[in-house]
Amino acid sequence: MTETGLPVGRIPVIRLPATPADANKGGSIFGGWIMSQVDIAGSIPAEVVAKGSIVTRAVDSFEFKSPVFAGDLVSCYAEITHIGRTSVKVMVDVYAQRRRGDQIETIMVTEASLVYVAIDQQGRPRAIPKD
Ligand SMILES: CC(C)(COP(=O)(O)OP(=O)(O)OC[C@H]1O[C@@H](n2cnc3c(N)ncnc32)[C@H](O)[C@@H]1OP(=O)(O)O)[C@@H](O)C(=O)NCCC(=O)NCCS
Repeated sequence: MTETGLPVGRIPVIRLPATPADANKGGSIFGGWIMSQVDIAGSIPAEVVAKGSIVTRAVDSFEFKSPVFAGDLVSCYAEITHIGRTSVKVMVDVYAQRRRGDQIETIMVTEASLVYVAIDQQGRPRAIPKD
């Protein structure tokens, strides 16, 4: 961990602020908003590996470990954990950074594992090129 609490040596695929428009009445962010960011984050390395179109096939696991609040800076990290014949499995970790006075608190908020499938122009599974 760095002094900011984000993982060392990893580059987030997405960073964006959570806004009041993404929050429920209690001020915490809708789970669906986070799921959307996670899906987009996971698709980025999956599409690179698949060298073309992909679709989300499955969400193997999804854990909301801590709430996200409006004003938090959200960082999504994505790592490929398995490449199959037509599928790519990606682990996505999400961190929220929250200002507390002159300090920034970093919290690991979500962990998920998703499966993407490479598709051809007809939307059928397509073998992932082996470079
Ligand atoms: C993606 C789609 C084309 C795959 O077709 P399919 O007939 O289910 O294909 P298969 O059963 O052969 O599975 C394809 C791959 O996904 C994997 N897979 C299928 N179901 C899975 C599951 N529940 N969990 C993990 N992996 C799964 C298979 O193991 C296979 O991987 P491999 O080729 O690397 O071994 C089809 O299911 C589809 O169009 N789904 C809708 C996608 C979608 O609209 N997503 C949301 C918006 S992007």
